[in-house]
Amino acid sequence: MSRILGVFGVWVILGFLVQNVAAGECPVFKCGKIKNQKDEHTCLQYSSEWIVQKCSKGEYCLGDKFNSVESVVNNTLCAKQEVKDRLPGEHCSKDTECYNQFKCHKGTCQGLVTDQRCVNQFGREEQRYCSPGLFCDSVKQTCKEVTKFGETCTAQAPCEYGTLCAMTKQDAGFSCKKMFSLQDGELVDLTQVFPISTVAYSKEDICQSGHVLRSDKGTYCMPGPQLIDSKRVKEKGAGEVCKYKAFRNPNDLTEYQEFTEYSKCGFNTNGSGYCDVYKGDIEYTSAIEGYKEALQKVDNDCHLLSTLSKCKNLKNKEGKAAKKWEQAQFYIGEGSYAAAADNDKCVKSEIMRSFWEGDSSYQLTVTVFLSILALSNLI
Ligand SMILES: *[C@@H]1O[C@H](CO)[C@@H](O)[C@H](O)[C@H]1NC(C)=O
Ligand SMILES: *[C@@H]1O[C@H](CO)[C@@H](O)[C@H](O)[C@H]1NC(C)=O
Repeated sequence: MSRILGVFGVWVILGFLVQNVAAGECPVFKCGKIKNQKDEHTCLQYSSEWIVQKCSKGEYCLGDKFNSVESVVNNTLCAKQEVKDRLPGEHCSKDTECYNQFKCHKGTCQGLVTDQRCVNQFGREEQRYCSPGLFCDSVKQTCKEVTKFGETCTAQAPCEYGTLCAMTKQDAGFSCKKMFSLQDGELVDLTQVFPISTVAYSKEDICQSGHVLRSDKGTYCMPGPQLIDSKRVKEKGAGEVCKYKAFRNPNDLTEYQEFTEYSKCGFNTNGSGYCDVYKGDIEYTSAIEGYKEALQKVDNDCHLLSTLSKCKNLKNKEGKAAKKWEQAQFYIGEGSYAAAADNDKCVKSEIMRSFWEGDSSYQLTVTVFLSILALSNLI
């Protein structure tokens, strides 16, 4: 519920803050040529509508840090593009692209191997040093093998990619369980789930739906809320009502509560607004299905901090499925469905680059993940 209130609150505040955009109307974002630019490296400018211009080769638009229309800044500039900090196991074309100046060998960033010391200049263990299939052990401060699916795990020794260390009611102890493996209606103690195995760190990902219902009787895996409105796109822009249902009873999936939210503006050409995606929506549930299949191809070739779509082995169908799931994370996380809907071509490359090409959202997730690792070391 806090998200619902939060979104509403933000919407009300923005109603006052966003000038030039009357309540209801959404700004238009279009590819075009920016006239009278002070700086030839401008990629985004407002003049009755937002004009987006592609940056020259080797540069990228600083607009790709905007997750919502409200955060957009007039006269945004292009900056030099530099590929770096690729993790061991990720694709590369030269050494400088790899984290810690590890070698780029046969198109893949190298990392430390088993029993090598993984400590940085500050004397702290550094997960990013170890090769795929390994993690930096906080006690021994060397790279050690991750725990395999089905094996006994602890909060300190992460499970292999695509699995979480968890204990459910019927288990005698902790073991590495597949993501999205607990059925709807199953009781789950999230304090007993250690998501230190993948970038997809959400504890709720232990449930097949990726969602839980918290009640006074406990926490249950449950399908997420879903749109019951007929239309996700709203021609009148922001502030139109979007109606959802949320399941309330773990024993009865026919029982639900309705709630409403308001459509949001995005970076589209026709000034439309869109209803958000929740975890029960097809955009999310189908992404989970594809992701589960893609995970089967990983075989410990992915660094625990890599997103699946950046993991070198994934191509074609699995690569697409991985990206789709990462995009779905953007909808329910730091972004919105609206931001990525009906993007013009250059909006895709200059503003929503991390969404469409899957690059910088990763930076953010790693931070969250590392802090979880740091926390779990204290347990
Ligand atoms: C954006 O910048 C352009 C050029 O500096 C200026 O003409 C325009 O009024 C600005 N728009 C807003 C909304 O600030
Ligand atoms: C908005 O424009 C896109 C093309 O950019 C089009 O596919 C879509 O149907 C339009 N939506 C509305 C509501 O007009």
